[in-house]
Amino acid sequence: MSIPVLTIDGPSGAGKGTVSRAVAKKLGWHYLDSGSIYRSLAISALDQQLDLNDAVAVALCAEQMHLAFECKHELVVTLDGIDITSRLPGEDTGAAASQVAAYPEVRAVLLQKQKDFRQLPGLVADGRDMGTVVFVDAPAKVFLTASAPERGKRRYKQLKEKGIDANLDKITQEIQLRDRRDSERKTSPLIPAEDAFYLDSSSLTIDEVIEQVMTLAVT
Ligand code: DC
Repeated sequence: MSIPVLTIDGPSGAGKGTVSRAVAKKLGWHYLDSGSIYRSLAISALDQQLDLNDAVAVALCAEQMHLAFECKHELVVTLDGIDITSRLPGEDTGAAASQVAAYPEVRAVLLQKQKDFRQLPGLVADGRDMGTVVFVDAPAKVFLTASAPERGKRRYKQLKEKGIDANLDKITQEIQLRDRRDSERKTSPLIPAEDAFYLDSSSLTIDEVIEQVMTLAVT
């Protein structure tokens, strides 16, 4: 019997993280936040002052980095033994992650690292290509989206709550730019899997989204 996976893909700020974590908790399953892998790589490359336009150097960096995810109260991520959790949510990190994520060499290196998260009793995998590339055989797939202005508002609120300085207009523009880059790239673009359940959360509460996704996961 193959290990069950629920994939939740969609653009940034659609609520994937909150929904995936809540659903993973309710099901007692593992959780993969694949965006944080790309974010960690961006941090590692920037810290080493690599040229982010150099796909080969960034792919080598991906091969060499030692990442560890530990879920205590919250997710704690260590890169080469150093806790980088507080650096992950920044908009600059997100933009750099989107840039390095466009390289096929990088995605090839990170593919197996993501597949390794598939462990019993099951996995909730959150990202852009979980249902289309990494876990194509997942029995339950969701494409979770919301309008760009709504996602901008949510991201703004999230950053403010974390004490990170933010500007709503700038965030909405960055979200649109990132959507374009993530959707138009050649390798693993952000598109709904053919067999994904398309869910627009613009006018739904987070609890309503969680409820719909749970129904899908258990049927
Ligand atoms: O979900 P996030 O905002 O943490 O993701 C950061 C960037 O990483 C996003 O702009 C695109 C990239 N990404 C990706 O290409 N594939 C994934 N499965 C997850 C994230």
